[in-house]
Amino acid sequence: MLNKITVVGAGNVGATTAQRLAEKSLARTVVMVDVVEGVPQGKGLDQWESAPIEGFDTRIVGTNGYDESADSDIVVITAGIARKPGMSRDDLLNTNAGIVKAVCEQVKRSSPKSIIIMVSNPLDIMCYVAKEVTGFPRERILGMAGVLDTARYRSFLAEALDVSVEDIQAMVLGGHGDTMVPLISYTTVSGIPVSQLLDRKALDAIVDRARNGGAEIVKYLKTGSAYYAPSSAAVQMCEAIALDKKRVLPCAAWLEGEYGMKGLFLGVPCKLGRKGLEKVLEIELTSAERVALGKSADAVREPMAAVKL
Ligand code: LAC
Repeated sequence: MLNKITVVGAGNVGATTAQRLAEKSLARTVVMVDVVEGVPQGKGLDQWESAPIEGFDTRIVGTNGYDESADSDIVVITAGIARKPGMSRDDLLNTNAGIVKAVCEQVKRSSPKSIIIMVSNPLDIMCYVAKEVTGFPRERILGMAGVLDTARYRSFLAEALDVSVEDIQAMVLGGHGDTMVPLISYTTVSGIPVSQLLDRKALDAIVDRARNGGAEIVKYLKTGSAYYAPSSAAVQMCEAIALDKKRVLPCAAWLEGEYGMKGLFLGVPCKLGRKGLEKVLEIELTSAERVALGKSADAVREPMAAVKL
């Protein structure tokens, strides 16, 4: 169990993340920070009052400042505005860059040894903002996108095949946008290549739905974006770190030559343990997947060049 995990942002993603972290007893204390007066305090207290029923001893503390969050082991950043119908994640760029920059300055000061898990969008660019502002090594800045995109892809496959979600192994790489790259060649059902069980047309439809999974939820909700699956994904990354599990999960990581690319955050297979990013795994890709990953990187570089810091 870790000593402290901070969640910045007490909106839907942040608050659900805090609750899931506590229910899994991943830290002694979970601190929820938000600028809106009363909201982190109220939600945190409400969550703590669920502890006797849910059976966790993790104390959840809501606050408007960073004093209580000092020396956190992990900081999950969810602060920022969410998409409305018709908006792309890149439409959030400069508003969220300003918010994430201010948050990261506080994190650098109050928790200089923490591991940052970025959740705010546009994800890959907000990871870059965190790197520029904190100067943390790449081991301690990870972006949550691939786990979520993969979960969406796995849930749609389980539905189409009428099998347990547990038996679908898959990985979605690339940026967290329309250019993400679900790897059909590595998608299996208990080790059976999925191409033996679903025809190409059905697979392409599922890939397409996974790519637009975030927008599908935004369209239903109208006033915000998804939060149940995003918070589950962020917590799975926290769990891999807190329990030093050495899990291999697709996460946004700062590339230093892997896949022939460097100087950007992109979704790649990562080994996560107590030190954060312990290794980027370089796997063989088909030529089509390699081209798709290159295109996805281009789609990340463009807003990255435009972001004002
Ligand atoms: C999504 C947002 C959180 O994919 O990026 O739902």
